Amino acid sequence: MAEFRVRPAHPVVCSITVPGDKSISHRSVMIASLADGVSTIDGFLASEDCLSTMKAFRSMGVRIDIPDEASLHGPGAPGVIKITIHGASGGLTAPAGPLDCGNSGTTMRLMSGILAAQPFHTELFGDASLSKRPMKRVIAPLTAMGARISGQGDEGRPPLAIDGQALHPIRYRLPVASAQVKSAVLLAGLFCEGETVVTEPVATRDHTERMFQAFGIQLRREGDDILLAGGQRPVARDFTVPGDISSAAFWLVAAAAQPGSELEVRNVGLNPTRTGILKVLTRMGARVEEIVETEGPGEPAGRLLIKGTRLQATVIGGAEIPNVIDELPILAVAAALAEGTTIIRDAHELRVKETDRIAAMAGTLRAMGVTVREFDDGMEIDGQARLQAPLEPLPTFGDHRIAMAGAIAGLFAEGETVIAGAECVDTSYPGFAGELARWQRGGAANAATLADGSVLPVVVKPGQPTTGVVVAIDGPAASGKSSVARELARQLGFVHVNSGAIYRAVTWAVLAADIDPVDQAAVVAALPQLQIACGVRDGAGTVTINGHDPSEYLNNSEVNAAVSAVARVPEVRAALFPLQQGYAAMANLVMEGRDIGSTIFPSTPYKYYVDASPEVRAQRRAAQGFADSVAARDLQDSTREVAPLRLAEGAVLIDSSDLTVAMVVARIVDDLRCKGLVG
Ligand code: S3P
Repeated sequence: MAEFRVRPAHPVVCSITVPGDKSISHRSVMIASLADGVSTIDGFLASEDCLSTMKAFRSMGVRIDIPDEASLHGPGAPGVIKITIHGASGGLTAPAGPLDCGNSGTTMRLMSGILAAQPFHTELFGDASLSKRPMKRVIAPLTAMGARISGQGDEGRPPLAIDGQALHPIRYRLPVASAQVKSAVLLAGLFCEGETVVTEPVATRDHTERMFQAFGIQLRREGDDILLAGGQRPVARDFTVPGDISSAAFWLVAAAAQPGSELEVRNVGLNPTRTGILKVLTRMGARVEEIVETEGPGEPAGRLLIKGTRLQATVIGGAEIPNVIDELPILAVAAALAEGTTIIRDAHELRVKETDRIAAMAGTLRAMGVTVREFDDGMEIDGQARLQAPLEPLPTFGDHRIAMAGAIAGLFAEGETVIAGAECVDTSYPGFAGELARWQRGGAANAATLADGSVLPVVVKPGQPTTGVVVAIDGPAASGKSSVARELARQLGFVHVNSGAIYRAVTWAVLAADIDPVDQAAVVAALPQLQIACGVRDGAGTVTINGHDPSEYLNNSEVNAAVSAVARVPEVRAALFPLQQGYAAMANLVMEGRDIGSTIFPSTPYKYYVDASPEVRAQRRAAQGFADSVAARDLQDSTREVAPLRLAEGAVLIDSSDLTVAMVVARIVDDLRCKGLVG
């Protein structure tokens, strides 16, 4: 049995991605399987739950291609995959035996809606946890549609036996706020003649509706009603599943509750029916920014930025509950770390999830020294500054979210927190253990733990050339690249070289010799008289001209006004070209400039282009005390004939407009880790 051993963590500054959304991945298989034509689903979550759905549809004759099927399970499993689904055009075939839904309520409930209308008999079963979950909530509306479906366990619990029938549409008002029930009725409605109407008095996640529309199925929303005309068949398409905000939630809380932590989550789903956790954490005092980058078709997605603080207690209840239903275990951990008493009410549904999550979280937090009062529909949690590691390993009851919430609590507990039965995290978040280990080590780039002068573990592979490794940071004026390059060099233990300083040194020498910097011929004629020497001192590149160190003059206004003119002279660039390359013979470098990735070190695999909006750059420039125009600099830098400023091939573009320096560095370190340079 797998276990997590968790120790308290330092503040972390890092940039992460999380695996694909579970709810959306399930629906993508179901809807693409019914479609006319071939769909590819990118970012599909290869977790146990979603694989259960995939296997079930394969058993019903749907061809689903997976690139490397053998590698789907166990350590090192990919987490997300791209799959190709050959839609059965509505013509599913009878499976050879009962369909195993594993731990997945979504698989069983949503598939019931489809199977109720197929011309064959099916049986659906699941593991011990799923066998205890209520199914009457789908049996009742489907029966009203004419289905023959029954639960073989107590009170209609699984296994389910379904004899497919012709169904008729109904108007159904959801008695429990459940996206699974809504979806089961809508999926059944596809096979009816006439209009199915589902009324949801409290909004629940709308992934089924969005995916229907993305796959060409018309539906309307009128107030609380969702109206679907039957007889429509999905049309295949390519679809990308964004990262799961419910998986991100664990790291959002880990960062939010830690003053000094900063987290960016990239490519995460930002469907408003799922982002309730952001509102809760904001109420608790965390600084949260949500940046929607794509609106679909299908699902909105983008980035989240969050800064940690000492959280404050809040009240969570009412219509907000369905929007945070899966996040309540980790929000209970946030509450345990907040100042004051947090109240969670109206969350009866938590009692019938993969386990009774109210009892499980109350038990977890009490074992860590927290006072929790339990209600039928929630709990009241007295927050405290630190938690205590529990004396005994924490049980997970086979529930992935209880395991992960316990692990995050352990990051804030004195001593070692042990979570027993941690393998259940594979239900929704393969790769959680790796991310946890990284967080324990201090995140992708942890200014706090590196402040003592230690550096990130750089992996220079044997057989690499004897010249240093070069990380190239290019970008326009005032993009923030210098601060980023300096901090990155510090974290990597590399030498920081500002190639602009070399052009400025030459400009200083030109001005000192009374040469007009725009007189290209005069500048070229002066070059042979300049003895330019590059070196390395105290972790930074140095440059001297004729034995003088001009560093104190490099940012004065005369040099500043003239440097673009000098730097555009082809002979100047040609003369400085080998000198800049020479730095790599002396050390590993983080080298910043405008043409490092494109011209000076085009073969380095580590290229970044830091940019920011013109407005932000103008503000930064003014704050640096310069009165010149960034637009004019951009024009000069990008139109010069030799090595103009441009995004080098293979460079990663980072828009730093709304990012701190630490966060841009964290992003680069994350990419360097993916590329194997940082261990
Ligand atoms: C889900 C809906 C929610 C949620 C579950 C996934 C879905 O369940 O808790 O993890 O994909 O529709 P309910 O519909 O039972 O609230």
